[in-house]
Amino acid sequence: MAEKEWWRTYFEENYLAFHKDRPFRDTQEELDLVQSVLGPAAGRSLLDACCGQGRHAIPLCRLGWRVTGVDQSELMLEMAQREAEGLGRDNGGIEWVRADLRRPMADSRFDAAICLFTSFGYCPEDSENQKVLESIHRALKSGGAFILDVANRDFLIQHPYAIRNWWQRGEEYILEETKLSPVTSLATTRNVLVSTEGVRESEYRIRLYSLHEIVRMMVEVGFEITSAYGNFPAEPIQMTSPRLILVAKKE
Ligand SMILES: C[S@@+](CC[C@H](N)C(=O)[O-])C[C@H]1O[C@@H](n2cnc3c(N)ncnc32)[C@H](O)[C@@H]1O
Repeated sequence: MAEKEWWRTYFEENYLAFHKDRPFRDTQEELDLVQSVLGPAAGRSLLDACCGQGRHAIPLCRLGWRVTGVDQSELMLEMAQREAEGLGRDNGGIEWVRADLRRPMADSRFDAAICLFTSFGYCPEDSENQKVLESIHRALKSGGAFILDVANRDFLIQHPYAIRNWWQRGEEYILEETKLSPVTSLATTRNVLVSTEGVRESEYRIRLYSLHEIVRMMVEVGFEITSAYGNFPAEPIQMTSPRLILVAKKE
């Protein structure tokens, strides 16, 4: 069984072994939606909450945003910093912060915030996950926009084909098995990587949310939902869309 705070150690070698290519395939589509929702950067400040390797933070900096990337993983932030060296003077001015987003950040500092690629729901308790939304809300200036992108619980429960999957990457084989509890909505994913070096296994667990639940949590912390999409690039939302991409404003 995945440890309670599995995410404190998972976003190191394990994550990189399984996800070294997959997230990057979708980066451009994700950035296109972020740009069309947030509008021109014009030197405005942006919080990339759970920034990981800086997949979005770095290109958004290139587009003129003053970016702060926050993540709890030392290795992810080191990789982001190394990648940002290509940005030239002062590494583009991106501020990288190692912190647990459940803890409050500086008040009313950012014009916009993003939290992409199901980086939310890592605690089994809703109250702990809600703390992440609270601190993002608090860190935004009044009227600031926020984009949250997570996998949709109601997609997964209706699509058993998404539950067991395997694919080949060069000489490696990756197996992924997800079990979603219809009672707790906790999705436990087991990954197995078979390569010439041997077999590597890992497990993680995410609380997946339905549309009405995530909307309620966001509204409770003070966000007003302004639009929503069901997938990249900008697909209309339905109850069973693969993703829940919620655009909100700090009231
Ligand atoms: C799936 S990765 C996505 C990273 C990035 N948003 C992307 O799209 O590539 C999730 C990231 O969230 C971070 N994370 C999860 N919970 C966190 C928390 N409470 N505080 C800070 N970072 C967190 C992890 O360390 C990890 O780097």
